[in-house]
Amino acid sequence: MKPLFAKRNRVVAVILVLGCVVLTGALARDSVVLRRKLMESNNSVVAEALNKAVKEKNFAEIEGKCDVILENMDKVLDLFPAGSLSENSRAKPEIWERWKEFSKHPANVRKAAQELAAAARTGDEEAVKVRFKALGRACKSCHESFRAPKPKQGT
Ligand code: HEC
Repeated sequence: MKPLFAKRNRVVAVILVLGCVVLTGALARDSVVLRRKLMESNNSVVAEALNKAVKEKNFAEIEGKCDVILENMDKVLDLFPAGSLSENSRAKPEIWERWKEFSKHPANVRKAAQELAAAARTGDEEAVKVRFKALGRACKSCHESFRAPKPKQGT
């Protein structure tokens, strides 16, 4: 009876260790899914909602959408735990090699969104257009350094 128990304990230990390995992998995949969701939200805000609001000179709407970007930028770094890559992630490994540089980008986007919101508050159409472009550039700046190109269709 006793040796059998010991063996069972070993089996349990192995299962626990394997469980942890699988769980860590799952967490990395979850982060990829969550951050892509967040990026999609960024994109629909900037490329669709904000673009429309700028065209329609809907200044209140612009301010509201800037808040969404600010919230996203507060969360984004948590969604890049060390080494979280998956087969369909476009995140570059350089993110974790140059974390100090990577982690500065959300603050730049934040600042650009705050400046756009401030321009919207004054109702200055020209300033809004300039700030809107600057916001787009701030997003792109992180992508240029840390996002891999899109894989070719079908690969
Ligand atoms: C800190 C760097 C950083 C900032 C800032 C940033 N992004 Fe990204 N973005 C990334 C990375 C890295 C990926 C790839 C993530 C992956 O595939 O795992 C990405 C992916 C995306 C995607 C593709 C999502 C998908 O499903 O493949 C879109 C769209 C996007 N970002 C839009 C934006 C917009 C709009 C902003 C600005 C409001 C922004 N991003 C700010 C780093 C950033």
